Amino acid sequence: MIVPINIYSDDVLRQQALPLEGVDKEVEELLGNMFETMYSAPGIGLAAPQVGRSLRLLVLDISCMREYANVKPMVVINPEIVAVKGYRSMEEGCLSLPGLQGDVVRPSSISMKYRDEHFEGQSAEFSGLLARVLQHEIDHLDGRLFVDRLQKKERRKVQKELDALASGRFIASYPVVVPATANNT
Ligand code: NI
Repeated sequence: MIVPINIYSDDVLRQQALPLEGVDKEVEELLGNMFETMYSAPGIGLAAPQVGRSLRLLVLDISCMREYANVKPMVVINPEIVAVKGYRSMEEGCLSLPGLQGDVVRPSSISMKYRDEHFEGQSAEFSGLLARVLQHEIDHLDGRLFVDRLQKKERRKVQKELDALASGRFIASYPVVVPATANNT
């Protein structure tokens, strides 16, 4: 089932999400909905808070990009970044910030511990686009958005668009939860 995506000014995007204690039927259903919603938007990553669930859970699939065609879709539960290496600037966007893009500096590779879709412990190193998407989605679990990481000048450039998102003046090509603040303006 495609579920609506929460937008920029929504409180759920600013909360510290809670760890999962296992994968039950309800989590499996949530995962299915998240993949369906992500593919249909379309996007390459989606974190549970973006669909209104404050849980440490994310899905991603970057195989639509030609150089990553062999990369399998991933379910990441309770991730923990244990080491980082290098730095790189890359343009990012976000389904919770429709129409916005910006250059964000982040570590170029990460070592991460997490649980997979069977709730089995995994540990691996990621680089390139995978490291980028993982860090962006893990930020969502900590109530952080990519615009929080823009340099001052870049941030100023998108401020108007952020205000428009907060007041509900935007167009998205997928179902969204209209920000509560939009009703007051
Ligand atoms: Ni995002």
